[in-house]
Amino acid sequence: MNQAVLVLIKPDGLKKSLTGNILTRLSETKLEIVAAKMARVSKALAEEHYKHLKDKPFFPEIVKYLQGELHDRKKAMALIYWGEDAIKKCRELAGSTNPEEAESTSIRGSYGRITTSGVYENVIHVSSNEPEAEREIKLWFNPEEIIVDLYPKKSIVVKEHKKSIWA
Ligand code: PPS
Repeated sequence: MNQAVLVLIKPDGLKKSLTGNILTRLSETKLEIVAAKMARVSKALAEEHYKHLKDKPFFPEIVKYLQGELHDRKKAMALIYWGEDAIKKCRELAGSTNPEEAESTSIRGSYGRITTSGVYENVIHVSSNEPEAEREIKLWFNPEEIIVDLYPKKSIVVKEHKKSIWA
């Protein structure tokens, strides 16, 4: 069954120049990349992304982490992989959420660490299931940024909307 999954290369992955390594590892899945961008991560976006964890003691830290405040890199790379069993395939390559429990050959096992305050700096985020993937994809991407039709969409006319175009 074809599925879509959100993958984030988190600010520590960018700071450690791991983008190429991570994309090479993920290419082993033979999945198709149907959207990709560098994103500035606002506090609101990070809080919404991790909203199911808002009662956890590490919530404030993971929000700062995703925003790039811990790594002097105020950006993340967001990608959507699409194809057969996309979630399972990407999560297997990512490895366990806890980088110390992740297989040493996995992305998180190879490059992740746990900070002294107990936060997992695990380099990459991968949606955990289909409902979460849909929620996260709709949070990070607009329909026109994705080159296939993943979910139902509608057209609206936006009047007096200011946007930048090339000068
Ligand atoms: S998952 O990966 O979504 O299935 O797991 P979940 O438990 O829903 O997500 C936990 C996210 O919080 C990050 N995080 C931690 N989790 C547990 N314990 C500690 N100490 C901790 N520190 C950070 C963890 O990396 C998960 O985020 P993502 O972005 O999915 O890696």
